[in-house]
Amino acid sequence: MRKWRLNFRVLSLFSLVAVLLAGCGEPFLSTLRPAGEVAEKQYSLMLLSTAIMVLVIIVVTIIFVYVVVRFKRRKGEEDVIPKQVEGNHKLEILWTVIPIILLVILAVPTVADTFKLADVKGMEKEDAIVVNVRANLYWWEFEYPNQKIITSQDLVVPTDTKVYFNVKASDVKHSFWIPSVGGKVDTNTENENKFWLVFDSEKAESANGLFYGKCAELCGPSHAYMDFKVKALPSEEFDTWVSDIKDVKPDVSTASAKAGEEIFTESCIGCHAVEAQDGRPEQARQAPNLAGFADRERIAGVLEHNEENLKQWLKNPEEIKPGNKMSNTYPDLTDEQVDQLTEYLLELKEK
Ligand code: CUA
Repeated sequence: MRKWRLNFRVLSLFSLVAVLLAGCGEPFLSTLRPAGEVAEKQYSLMLLSTAIMVLVIIVVTIIFVYVVVRFKRRKGEEDVIPKQVEGNHKLEILWTVIPIILLVILAVPTVADTFKLADVKGMEKEDAIVVNVRANLYWWEFEYPNQKIITSQDLVVPTDTKVYFNVKASDVKHSFWIPSVGGKVDTNTENENKFWLVFDSEKAESANGLFYGKCAELCGPSHAYMDFKVKALPSEEFDTWVSDIKDVKPDVSTASAKAGEEIFTESCIGCHAVEAQDGRPEQARQAPNLAGFADRERIAGVLEHNEENLKQWLKNPEEIKPGNKMSNTYPDLTDEQVDQLTEYLLELKEK
């Protein structure tokens, strides 16, 4: 009775864990819910390799159990030495050939897909959607060379279109990863990596048009906060976004917003920019471009986007993102100045 109860408990625990883990598969975040051509290819490779591994484990376990049972020492036969066998050509050939066949089954689609995913010839076309991604401690810059705009933290892309990426880093090695759509690709300081992704429109809809992106390489104390968001829009909406964000001007009609603008021009503009058509060279772009900031998904990549969180961030960025580069050069702001700056920043809209 006791044993039965224990078994029941263990079973319940496993069922609970299974139910909880099943909840991990959110459409905006999960590799197990692929939302585009690249993610689907990566997912099928994962399934194939897992299936092969499970097959090997099952066969080996069956043989192991059979041998343990069949050849165990029996009562009354303690002193009997069993027949000694050395070498068996048939068996040896069999267990050499089977792994080779399994490896070939795994290698053919892997190599084929690797070449396909690395094919970025279409990048050179004039109408290609290209994004230069630059990873920094701890924020992301997205430059659209063909559209001549720069933005950060929110990557905006059209759905059902090949989007080409050139990725690199400005300080240390990071890694660009949109779990449900594809990646990861290292962003290096010494070279540019190139690849492409497709954002499926139906899958984007089930994720409410928003995928989560992550830094997938341990890069410092705030690595876990180095998130970005991906807004996947239908092509026409993407084009509208491009033309809108090109010439937005913040409305600084209130005295407070005007004062905020002054603080910004005095203390922040050295690193940040508020225009998407930022003509400065890359070395001068030392902090996120804030064009369209008010319509972004998160403050500093991680906090929910609201006034209160923005103030909290402006008051003490170090507390929210330890080791971020803004903290060193940050001016001491009074509560009033924080309010003014907040008002100004919330005027930096997408259109
Ligand atoms: Cu950047 Cu981890």
